[in-house]
Amino acid sequence: MTKAKYQNPFSATFNGIIDLFRKQIPIGELKPSDRLDGKTCLVTGANSGLGYAIAVQLIERGGFVYLACRSQQEETQRKLKERFNESQFEVLALDLADFSSIQAFAEELKQRDKLLDVAVFNAAMVPSGSKKLASGFDEMFQVNYLSKFYLINHLIQAKMFAEDGLAPARIIFISSESHRTNRAIDFEKLGQFEEYSMGKVIDLYGYYKLVLNTFAVELGRRLREEKRLIDVFAMCPGPVNSNIARRAPAWVQPILKLVFSMFFSSPEKAAKPTIYLATSSDIAGRENLYLHLMQDKSMDIKALEEESGKNLWNRSVELLSPLKLLSFK
Ligand SMILES: NC(=O)c1ccc[n+]([C@@H]2O[C@H](COP(=O)([O-])OP(=O)(O)OC[C@H]3O[C@@H](n4cnc5c(N)ncnc54)[C@H](OP(=O)(O)O)[C@@H]3O)[C@@H](O)[C@H]2O)c1
Repeated sequence: MTKAKYQNPFSATFNGIIDLFRKQIPIGELKPSDRLDGKTCLVTGANSGLGYAIAVQLIERGGFVYLACRSQQEETQRKLKERFNESQFEVLALDLADFSSIQAFAEELKQRDKLLDVAVFNAAMVPSGSKKLASGFDEMFQVNYLSKFYLINHLIQAKMFAEDGLAPARIIFISSESHRTNRAIDFEKLGQFEEYSMGKVIDLYGYYKLVLNTFAVELGRRLREEKRLIDVFAMCPGPVNSNIARRAPAWVQPILKLVFSMFFSSPEKAAKPTIYLATSSDIAGRENLYLHLMQDKSMDIKALEEESGKNLWNRSVELLSPLKLLSFK
């Protein structure tokens, strides 16, 4: 078993920076002809950092973009209006920590006449410790994983993806190399609320990214089995100079800001692999495609195990069923 490189804040930051300088063999090239004219996209967590940069670049490539934002909706709307025509985007409210907000968001989307060609599930958080939500789940678990399971199933059941036969629609998960954790998923305990403090946050963040990747693989497998025209991709953007560490203790903030600004990629640069995944025709139909920066890598073997994917699916359904949100197969 390899030693997990991303399980505490120091090794995660150090290894993330080293990765940026490692020689890479890119999967391909993002070309000016990789366009989204006439296509509809969704980006979650689109008010900030990577999500905002992805949304802007999708609009620049001709896509109509729904920006799903928990906060700063008006500010995001104003910033975009300075650059684009209002017919090219719409800002919608979405709080992944609140299932009723996810339901309202999905209903809102259903009322539009557009189907999704590309959906980028980018929103995630790094908390300062555990927090029990009204649902009974821990905030990081719900925001970084369970809400996505719920929202995506909701959108798929409502046939909200464009499956017109021309090219498969695309679901893209923004994940992280930190999914290569030493831990296997504990399906019995998954979703049970447990208190934790800052010291355990990065380890759990990586663990939930493993859960997310396992979901991505299982979702892709199920969609292929059902002959649905939706591809599922995942990626790690590498270290991004964003607001991700905003909940870190105050004393460490100035150091983090300095390190982030000196060594981490700008959100604009870090968005490129996602734009490639959203637009390139070279990757249509690829199974379990995972990019680290622009490099085509295999996910951690734990995420690829079919048994694990099935267990995760069943456990997620079990966790959601008392909330009576959806009926799952
Ligand atoms: N930064 C890195 O070095 C790095 C490295 C690897 C992977 N990633 C991944 O990249 C993605 C984007 O992160 P980032 O670096 O751009 O961080 P960020 O600037 O903090 O952006 C995170 C986004 O997620 C949203 N979000 C958080 N909680 C939410 C909730 N309850 N409901 C809906 N949206 C919520 C945030 O909205 P608010 O502004 O309203 O909180 C924000 O828009 C994440 O998936 C992260 O795990 C980042």
